[in-house]
Amino acid sequence: MSDTSLLAPVAPEAAAKARAHLRAAEAECAFIPDIPADTPKRPIASAAVIGAGTMGGGIAMCLANMGVPVVVIDQSQEALDRGLGRVKKNYAVSVERGSLQAPEMERRLSFITGATGISAIANADIIIEAVFEDMQLKQDLFRQIDAHARQGAILATNTSGLDIDEIAAVTTRPADVVGAHFFSPANVMRLLEVVRARESAPDVVATLMDLGRRMGKASVLSRVSPGFIGNALLRNYSREALFVVEEGALPLDVDAALTRFGYRMGIFAVHDMAGNDVGLQTKRKLVLTRPKDRRYSDLLITICDMGRLGQKTGKGWHRYENGGRTPIRDTEWEAFLIGESKRLGIERRMVSDEEIIKRCIYSMVNEGARLLENGVALRASDIDVVYGTGNGFPPDRGGPMYFADSIGLDKVYADVARFHEAQGVWWEPAPLLARLAREGKTFADYDAERRKQIHQGGHA
Ligand SMILES: NC(=O)c1ccc[n+]([C@@H]2O[C@H](COP(=O)([O-])OP(=O)(O)OC[C@H]3O[C@@H](n4cnc5c(N)ncnc54)[C@H](O)[C@@H]3O)[C@@H](O)[C@H]2O)c1
Repeated sequence: MSDTSLLAPVAPEAAAKARAHLRAAEAECAFIPDIPADTPKRPIASAAVIGAGTMGGGIAMCLANMGVPVVVIDQSQEALDRGLGRVKKNYAVSVERGSLQAPEMERRLSFITGATGISAIANADIIIEAVFEDMQLKQDLFRQIDAHARQGAILATNTSGLDIDEIAAVTTRPADVVGAHFFSPANVMRLLEVVRARESAPDVVATLMDLGRRMGKASVLSRVSPGFIGNALLRNYSREALFVVEEGALPLDVDAALTRFGYRMGIFAVHDMAGNDVGLQTKRKLVLTRPKDRRYSDLLITICDMGRLGQKTGKGWHRYENGGRTPIRDTEWEAFLIGESKRLGIERRMVSDEEIIKRCIYSMVNEGARLLENGVALRASDIDVVYGTGNGFPPDRGGPMYFADSIGLDKVYADVARFHEAQGVWWEPAPLLARLAREGKTFADYDAERRKQIHQGGHA
């Protein structure tokens, strides 16, 4: 039976309720069961950011915007100049647009200094590492940070998904180490995932959660787990979008279904905007080590091999004319994709908009349920906040978990089980989703039950 509510426009009252849910959810993120709200915070009067790249520059801006002096460190003067130049340019664009006054830009810039030696971190109350995503490099750096940072400083890493316990382990003070996962661009995106490592001290976690809020961000707690909350869900969303393309949908149709659902941009338009080569080396490496028991799509590698990097090359998943940003159907690329399905032995079929949405969204819901039962996320509503603030989930639908509740977990579970039959291992239903569906409950019920347990002094 067709589920028309899935793609129907959201009624104004329902949208208002969904947005109210997100506001309440964001406020509740601050509540961490075993870290009381009155836990003393460590004072943050100065900061250091290591790595003046895309993320480091944005993080430095967040600190400068709140009046915290920050020293940005890179390995060469050239890299540092490039990074600080980008920061200046970002501020200048805001002045041009009229969203920032020139004297305020100067004031903010006065809080940012640069250095090329690690000793510049000596006085910082918090050090945020944002160098390349490489475990060896980060561990080497954390050994140096350990040697130069003052006692009591918070040592944070902006890793997108490396094991922070392994990073903390090379220091003599793992209790001071924590994940500060900003989203790109850090000065714009409202999400900060605070990643609590095995030994992170409660006051370190409390201080970073508070710092994020003072930056105007939604601070959401995650435990260490591949991709934490945000990227773990995104991986599922991205994978299913690629699979439906291999099965018969065309990229422009997938994006159209997603925008109909309420996303401001479809996933392929987002890939084209970010550049399809983001993380390409990591993807190539993963091909060599990934398990052999499941299906993968390598279209994100193939598209780069064909030079279709996205908007910057005028073509990617879509075509772009005269340096514009409007996605245009690319029939040549579509013909290639049809050929790819044949090469993979997949008989293309009509994939409905409804299936596209279910595959993209329910895969995230199922993963979200897993993160909840593994204790990576504290609450279903935290996952909604991550998705609303970090990944563009339509706010009128309240986040993936809230949306699943609104559909009914029995229906969601039935579809997940059906996809499991048809698609195999990626869709194995999360036990928590199965249980809630069986009991006729919602994720909101799950959150409420846990709240009650905590209130009664039970286990968090
Ligand atoms: N770009 C994103 O979308 C994004 C989002 C969230 C998290 N992250 C994470 O943030 C980190 C940085 O990513 P990025 O995109 O800013 O990378 P980037 O390549 O833009 O910048 C990295 C910077 O680190 C510098 N660097 C490398 N080794 C150094 C060292 N030993 N000492 C000082 N500086 C050094 C480089 O010169 C470069 O300027 C990575 O861990 C990444 O996974 C990235």
